[in-house]
Amino acid sequence: MNFNDAKNEILQVLSKTERQHLPKLLEWIKTSDDLDDILVDNQSVILHSIAEDLRACLPMEAMAPSETLAMQKGYLYSAASQLVGVEMSSEFVKLQSMAVEKYGFSDRIQVIHADIRSQIALVQKADVLIMNNVFEYFMEPRDQMQAWLYISQNFRKKGALLVTVPSIQEALGLLQDAAFLETLSLSQWIEEIPVDYSVYLKNDTDPDSLKQIHLYRVL
Ligand SMILES: C[S@@+](CC[C@H](N)C(=O)[O-])C[C@H]1O[C@@H](n2cnc3c(N)ncnc32)[C@H](O)[C@@H]1O
Repeated sequence: MNFNDAKNEILQVLSKTERQHLPKLLEWIKTSDDLDDILVDNQSVILHSIAEDLRACLPMEAMAPSETLAMQKGYLYSAASQLVGVEMSSEFVKLQSMAVEKYGFSDRIQVIHADIRSQIALVQKADVLIMNNVFEYFMEPRDQMQAWLYISQNFRKKGALLVTVPSIQEALGLLQDAAFLETLSLSQWIEEIPVDYSVYLKNDTDPDSLKQIHLYRVL
């Protein structure tokens, strides 16, 4: 069936549907998992392939299947002219560089092997900063505080966006240091922007994991 035939069939179905059920039907078309198998987009296919490659390189416990690297998702779903990943583990840098080369992403992606705290100029000029569980499991509490302070002092471009997993409040809450929270004074630095979590619900999406994603704007 070509596009026009399919469109006409859909219009016919919609015209035969009782009015009160139309909004529910349209919402189902937009969000239902039932259509996922039909609506696999090109980006999803590439991401799936990257995930397979990474899984093949890692022990099972090192990375969950859904945990494809954020910057590759960034590449496929963003028109940003420059995407820079900063990673202090050399193994992960190697892995990321391998995927970037293999999938031809090096025109816009660069992977830097460094501690983010040494990348002041980069953080200062960034428009969007994505931090996926970055410090919580990888640094001692004292280093985590230093790292958050560094981010809050250098990521200051008005209107720049900060994406964190989990929420910044949750990450900082784990540190249990009220005096530090006061020093950071989050409310003077960023404001949270509500995210519509229903937009990206798919078959394999865990809604609770999705809700761990938080978006903030620099004031
Ligand atoms: C949960 S993993 C996220 C991996 C991947 N970037 C992603 O988004 O899926 C967090 C990564 O942050 C890195 N990391 C932790 N502290 C860092 C720091 N101060 N500078 C650079 N990378 C850091 C860790 O080595 C770890 O690979």
